[in-house]
Amino acid sequence: MSTDTSVARPRPALLDQGILGFAIDGQWRQPRSAETFATVDPATEQVLTQLGVAGPDEVDAAVQAARRAFDGWAALSPEHRAKVLLQIADVVETHREELATLDSLDMGAPLLLSRGMVDHAVEIYRHYAGWPTKLTGHTTPAGPGQLHYTRRQPIGVVAAVIAWNGPVLQTSWKLAPALAAGNTVVLKPSEHGSLSALRLAQLLAETDLPAGVVNVITGLGGNTGQALINHPDVDKVSFTGSGPVGKHILRTSADTLKRVTLELGGKSPLIVFPDADLNLAATVAAAAFCMGTGQGCVAGTRILVHRDVREEFGELLRRAMDQYVPGDPFDPATTMGPLAFRAHLDRVTGYFDVTRAEGATISAGGHRLERLGLFVPPTLLDDVRNDMRVAQEEIFGPVAALMSFTSTAEAVRLANDTRYGLAASVWTRDLSAAHRVTADLRAGTVWVNTWGAMAPGTIPFGGFKESGIGREHGPDALLAYTETQTVMINL
Ligand code: TAP
Repeated sequence: MSTDTSVARPRPALLDQGILGFAIDGQWRQPRSAETFATVDPATEQVLTQLGVAGPDEVDAAVQAARRAFDGWAALSPEHRAKVLLQIADVVETHREELATLDSLDMGAPLLLSRGMVDHAVEIYRHYAGWPTKLTGHTTPAGPGQLHYTRRQPIGVVAAVIAWNGPVLQTSWKLAPALAAGNTVVLKPSEHGSLSALRLAQLLAETDLPAGVVNVITGLGGNTGQALINHPDVDKVSFTGSGPVGKHILRTSADTLKRVTLELGGKSPLIVFPDADLNLAATVAAAAFCMGTGQGCVAGTRILVHRDVREEFGELLRRAMDQYVPGDPFDPATTMGPLAFRAHLDRVTGYFDVTRAEGATISAGGHRLERLGLFVPPTLLDDVRNDMRVAQEEIFGPVAALMSFTSTAEAVRLANDTRYGLAASVWTRDLSAAHRVTADLRAGTVWVNTWGAMAPGTIPFGGFKESGIGREHGPDALLAYTETQTVMINL
């Protein structure tokens, strides 16, 4: 297998600090147990470094630190919490290149994409820095001699468990609203994307964040993650990841009635009507399943095209897919990185066999590349029926199914015929049709003549159906980190 040796691969200092420990109570703690896990660069399949596995004692220490820090953090003035969030934004911005590099090494995103995700995270921290001073309750109508009002109280200790496909970004989606509302946090990143969270924890020492308000522990989902979500002193679990683990968290949380927010997977449709700008639609459709190597929760993996333009669109789409050439994340020319880890590569390529076994065809891609690293090319599936596994299951790789429809009703029926409901994208020049179709779609976000647009912080994001519970971003996310307290006074 060949590899491109001409690309310089940076090595941030974090990777030379020995076995990486945990950030608990404002201190760096080396793991007690000798058990470690390796994090592997998916572009080279070389081990980057070893990380500690937090055992039950360390999970407990992190939760207890967050518990002790809670009263003080919640009692700080809103202006003080706002100032600290702005400091976090600044520190992330200052270390943009280092954090982006760690994510790209860890999970293989092209550096350009990782930089964009860091920039997005900075905006998220700045956005939520504006909220502590605006988090108000209501005075409600009451009879004579009565005063009734509500206020928003923080929930307490939040366990934030995130996936590997955008570690700096997902960390900000959890930390910023949780801290703005006055909660404390124990963060458990994915074993396939822990480096940037650990570095961020070190960098927080440069801010006025009190010790114990943010704690970061690493380990495997089934032990460290499980111990964290089981912990009786955790008041809320905020989770980003797969459906099966999300459902497990919901069940587990029932015993202590933890509050739960779930951001789960998707199988998002992209609907192309015949009057659409087909060129633009095809360009964006390719990005919708190739950007990030298709490892995005909102990936547009079911492309529904009106039969009248299917052939023309298919041709344009294949051409647009050619823009995504798998390559080294640190090569500035790279538009698509590797898949994030070995088991995931096996899972994605396994779906190529499923495609053939189900009687669908692969009209582009559909194999692992003969080179070092976990690379697959953009893959287009044809002759797919919407009830096939490849149209119903989240593949989480650069793989999309091309299907057609003949009427708007059929397009909407196909789009909604999935257990997911995270996002959808509608392509038409007819504004009335766009409004009608968006209203009929069962998806948390509907993009019209675009895909993947986000307004960092401001606009709610989350799923219908099995794509999740609750929302990230905007006031919705903030309120999900609060309890409403009602006060009724007899004057
Ligand atoms: P999961 O396997 O569900 O892992 C997510 C996180 O949960 C990881 O930190 C994982 O740790 C941890 N975990 C696993 N088992 C656990 C358990 N029993 N108790 C507590 N924690 C546990 O998902 P993934 O494969 O990393 O991520 C891909 C999925 O995330 C896709 O379905 C994707 O659509 C979804 N996702 C959704 C969104 C939004 S915003 N909706 C964004 C990104 C990704 P380990 O990794 O160490 O096992």
